[in-house]
Amino acid sequence: MADQYDYDVLVIGAGPGGYVAAIRAAQLGLKTACAESRETLGGTCLNVGCIPSKAMLHASEYYEQAANGAMAKLGVKVTPELDLDTMHGQRLDAVKQLTGGIAFLFKKNKVDWLKGKASFDDAHTVTVAGNKVTAKNIVIATGSSVTPLPGVEVDNDKQVVVDSTGALELAKVPEHMVVIGGGVIGLELGSVWRRLGAKVTCVEFLDQILPGFDGEVRKEAQKIFKKQGIEFKLGTKVTKVDVKGKKATITVEPAQGGDSETIEADCVLVSIGRKPNTDGLGLDKIGLDTNQRGQIETDHDFSTKVDGVWAIGDVIPGPMLAHKAEDEGIAVAENIAGMTGIVNHDVIPSVVYTWPEIAGVGLTEEAAKERGEVKVGKFPMLANSRAKTNHEPDGFVKVIADAKSDRVLGVWIIASVAGTMIAQAAQAMEFGATSEDIAYTCHAHPTHSEAIKEAAMAVTGKPIHI
Ligand code: FAD
Ligand code: NAI
Repeated sequence: MADQYDYDVLVIGAGPGGYVAAIRAAQLGLKTACAESRETLGGTCLNVGCIPSKAMLHASEYYEQAANGAMAKLGVKVTPELDLDTMHGQRLDAVKQLTGGIAFLFKKNKVDWLKGKASFDDAHTVTVAGNKVTAKNIVIATGSSVTPLPGVEVDNDKQVVVDSTGALELAKVPEHMVVIGGGVIGLELGSVWRRLGAKVTCVEFLDQILPGFDGEVRKEAQKIFKKQGIEFKLGTKVTKVDVKGKKATITVEPAQGGDSETIEADCVLVSIGRKPNTDGLGLDKIGLDTNQRGQIETDHDFSTKVDGVWAIGDVIPGPMLAHKAEDEGIAVAENIAGMTGIVNHDVIPSVVYTWPEIAGVGLTEEAAKERGEVKVGKFPMLANSRAKTNHEPDGFVKVIADAKSDRVLGVWIIASVAGTMIAQAAQAMEFGATSEDIAYTCHAHPTHSEAIKEAAMAVTGKPIHI
């Protein structure tokens, strides 16, 4: 196929969307290159996102369990001492190993890594580091970056006003961290520094944290985070942040307008969302527009309106999640190869990796009710034998099913291992399961997953252990 072109497929961006697309395309026998401007492969996720944040969450969770007496309760008495340098070291090590792993996979699958920023000359030509490269198909997988907040200047080097990248690397534990935005990043990284000793205040524009999650889950999650010590200022907006030396003064006012007040902090985390990366890509050269949210629109097969140009991941509409990008990466490569690559966007799980974890897949109860009559089954983790034995009483499982067909429409979980549990719900929904199917599936005992079975049984009003 590549005769008149240098490559069959050129992917721009080596995040979870792009690197997976490139590897799958190569596996399918297509001559493939991937342009990436970072020093290492893996994109936001491996370098400054999913992986380093989970490294800090995992380590800080151990620290807190030792510090707050949770381990002493189990008969393990310890007095922890924080060694932040080592904690950062193991984070960097995880990133190094995993990004190096992608470089190995590129070599193994014969994907050429073109180092540098790619920009379109025409629909089949890009310039990377001064070199023109042609391809029959070009996949845009340029990802996203932090949404700036007007009036608030992020300077990760100074470590006073930071974004998520800066918040992963703080050299010391702040005394008072103000988190702007009660979304996934604010809660995950706010939790890390709270566990390590910071006072954390979360300022959220809306009346509830975690937009997009099930209403009951949002309410319960906030209660749990509050109990853990995070202070919330809901329905509040930040109008400016003044920095003097190592101190910041944050001016806030009610979201609907009203009297302003100030908060003093030594660290401010700006986490109000992310925006698609299209600047400098030369989309104008190929006549490709972005929508109002700056995203590139595609068809179901991930083709754009320009022949031979495709797009996947954070740069297109949908949840900004690594696994969504990966699945789109596989699908787009298969479509380019003439196969049928499909992603079921109705079944993309979402996980917040706090303690406890918060996870969901499918419709929220509110959205499901808008579509028709539903039946809801709930089961508290307090009544799950494993969670109870492990001293993890917080949370619940909620199964939402269509009232007539009993088909599962959504599953929401707050539990220590909700992120692992949600996979079963996603798989059941992918197979079109009813709540009865889940209720009659044998679940190993004692596991947290039994709470999913019980919640499914509760849909028809018949859980056993409550
Ligand atoms: P990206 O990973 O953003 O990769 C795009 C790549 O393209 C980048 O490396 C960029 O350098 C490169 N690039 C951009 N423009 C060009 C160009 N013109 N030329 C060459 N290269 C270019 N998601 C989860 O599912 N689970 C999590 O736990 C999770 N945690 C997160 C934690 C944090 C702190 C953050 C910030 C994000 C997190 N995410 C998580 C989101 C996840 O990182 C993204 O959804 C995912 O990385 C998107 O993948 P992508 O391939 O679309 O883009
Ligand atoms: P987010 O969209 O999850 O949350 C942003 C929050 O900021 C929202 O609650 C919003 O109402 C609030 N907000 C917006 N403007 C505000 C303002 N001016 N003042 C106060 N609050 C304001 O975005 P976040 O947390 O930055 O994360 C970005 C993306 O990264 C997410 O969409 C998520 O998909 C991804 N991510 C995923 C993770 C995971 O899967 N575990 C972890 C971290 C990030």
